[in-house]
Amino acid sequence: KQTIFSGIQPSGNLTLGNYLGALKNWVDLQEEFNCYYCVVDMHAITVRQEPAELRKRCGDLLALMVAAGLDPEKNTIYVQSHVSAHAELAWILNCYTYMGELNRMTQFKDKAQRHPDNLNAGLYTYPVLMAADILLYHANLVPVGVDQKQHLEITRDIALRFNNLYGDVFTIPEPYIPKAGAKIMSLQEPEKKMSKSDPNPNGYIALMDPPDVIARKIRRAVTDSDGEIRCCEEKPGVSNLLSIYGALRGKSPEEAEKDFAGMNYGALKEAVCEAVISALEPLQSRFQEIRADKEFLNRLMGEGAEKAAKTAYKTLAKVQRKVGFGPKK
Ligand code: TYM
Repeated sequence: KQTIFSGIQPSGNLTLGNYLGALKNWVDLQEEFNCYYCVVDMHAITVRQEPAELRKRCGDLLALMVAAGLDPEKNTIYVQSHVSAHAELAWILNCYTYMGELNRMTQFKDKAQRHPDNLNAGLYTYPVLMAADILLYHANLVPVGVDQKQHLEITRDIALRFNNLYGDVFTIPEPYIPKAGAKIMSLQEPEKKMSKSDPNPNGYIALMDPPDVIARKIRRAVTDSDGEIRCCEEKPGVSNLLSIYGALRGKSPEEAEKDFAGMNYGALKEAVCEAVISALEPLQSRFQEIRADKEFLNRLMGEGAEKAAKTAYKTLAKVQRKVGFGPKK
């Protein structure tokens, strides 16, 4: 079986973008692959978090992963900070990563603009921690949305550089980007990606939004004035609605377009509402049930970390040996 690794940050409200670009696809992979899915709390503290809130969100996210359909028996689901090998490998890889490479990361440049008051070194070396996450488990494939593609490229570069120096230590991972839903855009500014850090909540659908709020946000989504339902670059708002509908119905946006021949924007929006609400409502009620079961979640958290640690420390020990760290006497 090939191995899959992916991560998601426990920061802010998870959006429909996270669901369609990541979570939903993770569920489809669990039968065929050996999957590791990680709640990346160490990445989350690269921007300031309220401690109690962060702790709560880690539990929420584990519950959400299970609610979305991830089976804890089939997958390794855990919290990043519970396996310290992530931090240890990240340090070593920092010493095999050039500042020039990190300077090119577009997500760093964006975040640097948004958080000029907290431009910390963690934000800068964020992609190296991500490389450590992936490389610890010898992942072959990494299912992510389009926004993470550049981080996958640097991961591959770091791994290749290390392998060239020390032999075949790491598996070189490939990004695995879904055909539909890989880049869900803001409902208000469809040139920008849908993001949990958007100050305007009408731009995103939070996974926990109640049905009436979902419907209101979709009905208010920005379209254009020509009234034609087509998927093309000049029509970002309409194309985004077609992507959302398509991702939920297992179709490409172009195939989705055919379902709306001769219809108007009102009909398109109603169909999108129906598709989103019928996907999120059951997710929300399962989430509430799982979240209430503290015992189950604690067990999941402990067992997940233990399973992950087995593989992670094996890889770490090999890397430590390769770079010349000696055993404790
Ligand atoms: P994060 O937490 O920002 O997002 C989690 C996943 O959701 C995807 N995503 C989207 N997909 C489609 N449309 C959108 N609007 C949208 N917004 C977010 C992201 O592409 C991602 O797949 N650095 C990562 C977390 C991470 C990671 C890893 C991922 C840490 N280590 C190792 C893969 C492998 C991040 O911040 O994702």
